[in-house]
Formats: sequence, C-alpha cells, structure tokens
Amino acid sequence: MTTGEHEAPSIVEVQAERAYQVVIGRGLLGELPRLLGDTVQRVLIIHPAVLAASASAVREDLRSQGYQVFLAEVPEAEAGKSAEVAAFCWQVLGQADFTRSDAVVGLGGGATTDLAGFVAATWLRGIRVVQVPTTLLAMVDAAVGGKTGINTAEGKNLVGAFHSPAGVLCDLSTLETLPRFDVVAGLGEVIKCGFIADPRILELVEANAAALADLGSAPPQTWSVLRELIERSVRVKAGVVGADLREAGLREILNYGHTFGHAIEQVERYTWRHGAAVSVGMVFAAELARLAGRLSDEDVARHRSTLRAVGLPTTYRGDRWEQLLAAMRRDKKTRGDLLRFVVLDEIGRPGRLEGPDPALLAAAYAEVSHEAPTGVEL
Ligand SMILES: NC(=O)c1ccc[n+]([C@@H]2O[C@H](COP(=O)([O-])OP(=O)(O)OC[C@H]3O[C@@H](n4cnc5c(N)ncnc54)[C@H](O)[C@@H]3O)[C@@H](O)[C@H]2O)c1
Repeated sequence: MTTGEHEAPSIVEVQAERAYQVVIGRGLLGELPRLLGDTVQRVLIIHPAVLAASASAVREDLRSQGYQVFLAEVPEAEAGKSAEVAAFCWQVLGQADFTRSDAVVGLGGGATTDLAGFVAATWLRGIRVVQVPTTLLAMVDAAVGGKTGINTAEGKNLVGAFHSPAGVLCDLSTLETLPRFDVVAGLGEVIKCGFIADPRILELVEANAAALADLGSAPPQTWSVLRELIERSVRVKAGVVGADLREAGLREILNYGHTFGHAIEQVERYTWRHGAAVSVGMVFAAELARLAGRLSDEDVARHRSTLRAVGLPTTYRGDRWEQLLAAMRRDKKTRGDLLRFVVLDEIGRPGRLEGPDPALLAAAYAEVSHEAPTGVEL
C-alpha cells in the first residue's frame, strides 16, 4: 500500500508552441481523454512487451469511451529506437487510416517515448502525442520538453525532431515494477535538477536517500517524497524548456554532467546506465569548477555525498583519459573545437566554462579517477 492514492494530481504547465500539462499522481487513466483533446478518434498506443498489461488496460478504458484503439508492441529500450521500428509504427498508422486529428500514446521508458514522439512528429508531418512515461528518467526528463528521436548505426539520437507532446501523464503506480537500478539511475537526473536549480530537491534526497534507492521496501511516505521530487524536477525542466524551445542556449544547463557522462557512455559502449554516467559527470564538472576557482570545496563534497547516498557512482577508472577526451571532442553538443562545460558557481547557479585549459581537465579527471575498475556498472 502506498500513499497518495486519493490525492488530487499535481499539474505542471509547460510553455511550448502550444502549452501543455504534465499531470503527476496515481490512477491517472481518467485524465487521458482530456489530454488527447476533442478531435481524436483513433489512438495508437506504442509500448514495449513489459508494459503489455498496462497498454491493454489503457486500450479497454479508451475503447469504453468510444475511441478506436490500436496497439504497437515495440522492442525494449534502445532496440526500439530504430528506423525499422518507426517504419513498423508508420505501417500500423497507415493501415488504420490515421488522420491529422488522431493521436499516438507513448507508454514506456524514455526510449519508447522518444520513438513514439518521433513517429507522431513524422506521421502526416505531425500528429498529437500524449506521453505516459513509466520510468523515473522518462518522467523527469525524456517525456518532457519535446525532443524526440531514434538511433542510427552511427550513433544515438542522430535522427529526430522537436515535437511537443499534447500532454504528459506521470502515474507513480507504474514505477512499482521498475527495477531498482533504473530508479537509482533516474535519481541521477533528479539530483541534477537539484544542483542546477532547486536545492530543496537535494534536501529531500539527502533526508530519504536509502528509502528512495529501495522503493520496494520503502515506507509509504517515501512515495509522497518521490512525487514531490518528480514534480520539482519537472518544474525545473519545464522552466528551462519553456524559455528555450529549440535548445538555443539556456537549455544547455540541463546538460550538467552530460559532457563527461556521454563520454563514459561511449567509452563503455552504453553498458553504463545514463544516470550513472551523468553522476560521475557531475562530480567531474564540480571538480572542474572548483579547480577553476568557481565552486567551493563544500559544494563539491555535497555532490559526492548526495550521489553516493542513493547508490550512484562518483568515480571512474583512471586509465581512459585519451578515449574520454576524444569522445568529448566528438560530442554533438561541442561547438567547433571548443569544449564547453556547464559548471556551477554555487548550487542553483549554473554557468559555462568554454575551452578550459587541458591541464585543468586532466586535473579534474584525476579527482574522479580510481585505480582499477570496481565493477560498478549501474
Ligand atoms: N528526449 C529527451 O529529451 C531525452 C532525455 C533523456 C533521455 N532520453 C532517452 O531516454 C532513453 C532512456 O530512458 P529510460 O532510462 O527510461 O530507458 P528505457 O526506455 O530503455 O527503459 C529501461 C527499461 O525499463 C523497461 N521499463 C520501462 N518502464 C518500466 C516499468 N514501469 N516497469 C518495468 N520495466 C520498465 C523498458 O522497457 C526498458 O527495458 C534513452 O534512449 C535516451 O536517449 C531522451
């Protein structure tokens, strides 16, 4: 039994070409028709096999209200973010005569919501999509903000479109089946929102770290804390993307920890979870800021203690500098040859560090290095 069952859902408004709502709570199926809007007759629910039962429940609910509902079961995780899988979804839409006034529902983790958003963005040059994220990472990050995409053989997220959802439903009950490490990885992005914009997030995580990292045996009130954390993190992302729809500048702060984090993901050939790589990346960025005379020792220590408290890694092997540096230089967010990092001047006050001295980078790497692989592969 968890708390929050009967609480009214929280709503966060996100500014976009057309503003939309992120609804956070429990038992939210009844909210779906409102987010789908009046014109929709046909709905395609895109989901992975692990969420087949939830997809059927959504289908039955929508059918009872007169919608024509179709299901597209797609491969799990990154395997679903391919041109072939998108083409399969287009085929289903075509065969079911989906028009501009119909809609897609993306039900799953960030990989599925990225795919569903991309399919909706491209079908008839754009139809409505309502995202129903079922991982913590997708709730606080992937499903909000309108970036959609698929992978190619050459790399992740290389093909995509900006396409804001018509709405987002974050139903906490879906997180009950999420494996522990996926919850912990999602907490990495939550903690990131705390560091860049909302210190209250850090206090809540610090006070409830052990319970958040083990939701299966957590006391009921932990779910209320998790709900507040999701709401606060969504507000941080909504505030940033609302002011910067197409990633012109401000949105960059959401990449805190990501330059080094992406490099770890590449060097590890995506065997590390994103949130774990970003965790080490945030400590790297904090050390960089400290070495550049911008962030206090105390704030750097808080990075390590908060991330470690939920079980996220804060170090990486010390014998990979050349590969990491090469990966950072290849990062698509790098402009020209200049390496750019989001750094903090204090907690809640992000800034930029452009083209840092290579010696500074190497020194920050030394601070996050450990001698031998620990086997931590979150
Ligand atoms: N568009 C954006 O702005 C944005 C931002 C961040 C990340 N992303 C993308 O998000 C993806 C990562 O998202 P993710 O961490 O959610 O991974 P994911 O979608 O791969 O989900 C992880 C695994 O958990 C399964 N799963 C999902 N919900 C579950 C549940 N409730 N119970 C049990 N299993 C469940 C999934 O099927 C998958 O196997 C990446 O592809 C990344 O590129 C996009």
